[in-house]
Amino acid sequence: MQDKDLRANKVGMIYKLPDGGSVEALKDVSFELETGRILALLGPSGCGKTTLLNILAGFLAPTSGEATLDNKRIQGPGQDRGMVFQQGALFEWLSVAENVGFGLNMNTDPGEKVMRFLRNTLINVAYVVVSLIVMAIMVSLVSAIIVNTPIARMPLINNLAAVYIIALIISLAILRFLIPPIRDWMRANLKTAKEKESRAIVDGYLDTVGLGGFGDKAVYELSGGMQQRVALARCLANDPDVILMDEPLGALDALTREKMQGLILKLWKETGKTIILVTHSVEEALFLGDRLFVMAPRPGRIEREYDLPFAEQGLVVNPRELKTSPEFIEKREEILSLIWEMEEEIMGSRGEVL
Ligand SMILES: Nc1ncnc2c1ncn2[C@@H]1O[C@H](COP(=O)(O)OP(=O)(O)O)[C@@H](O)[C@H]1O
Ligand SMILES: [Mg+2]
Repeated sequence: MQDKDLRANKVGMIYKLPDGGSVEALKDVSFELETGRILALLGPSGCGKTTLLNILAGFLAPTSGEATLDNKRIQGPGQDRGMVFQQGALFEWLSVAENVGFGLNMNTDPGEKVMRFLRNTLINVAYVVVSLIVMAIMVSLVSAIIVNTPIARMPLINNLAAVYIIALIISLAILRFLIPPIRDWMRANLKTAKEKESRAIVDGYLDTVGLGGFGDKAVYELSGGMQQRVALARCLANDPDVILMDEPLGALDALTREKMQGLILKLWKETGKTIILVTHSVEEALFLGDRLFVMAPRPGRIEREYDLPFAEQGLVVNPRELKTSPEFIEKREEILSLIWEMEEEIMGSRGEVL
């Protein structure tokens, strides 16, 4: 029995509904996951995959049974577990590096907090001063120009208030272009020692996920695949023992998805972390899971378990070759027919209507 193993012992989850009914999202889910394994959770919508991840993350308490990590009961979120969501879990208003370093910058000493407060105040004062100066210059310039031209005799403009409003609008437009470079310069150059240190760590993780040099970009400037790399880097930066991923590649196009699968395998091998990955795709589950649970709904449960060789092989063999190999295809068909059987059982006659 290894150290940081993850265990679920008869975990059950019953959601109470507002109308008095209830949903049994998980029933008697038990497993043991050794440190350093990568487990794929596969199953149709509603079979409790997200519920199970949320329980392991400590976001939800099970209604029966318990989950443990390192022989300690999971009772809430903790730094030993990190979560990567399908999409949209980045802070849009922060830069890429700030997103990745978010956890690193959270626990800081009071001196550091004072330094940051002073720095931020300085930046804000600088904004206001620069803005006022630009506005004053623009308003006097534009009003001088307008007053001395025939424009001043145009019906709507021939009063001073209108002239000032136009000047103000023009100066705001200019500020719109002036402020971002000033802000970026200040952000890049006015860092506390601690921030410089964590930035070096962050840059290391950005390199790991193939985003070296993207630290100062805004999140919205990145493609979906790149944003998921940022989410991965953020998770890695907190150095969790277990990484939980809820359909992390579900929103990506096929090519990006395949590249990201390779990245996940590489990270898994390089970091030696335990990973649990939820997916809808049989191919992805086979390729990434060195263990695989096929889950079934109503009540949500583990229907079948597999130990698979493909994740190990995927590190050395070309992924396309691996996915088209007879062994891979055979397993894929086996699991697909298992899922079909399950669907038929569940849907019964309703399946024919659909
Ligand atoms: N907060 C909730 N309240 C009530 N029912 C829920 C809640 N969250 C999930 N469920 C139900 O629990 C079941 C499992 O959901 P979920 O864990 O999201 O499945 P999956 O991620 O496999 O699609 C579904 O039937 C779903 O409708
Ligand atoms: Mg889900």
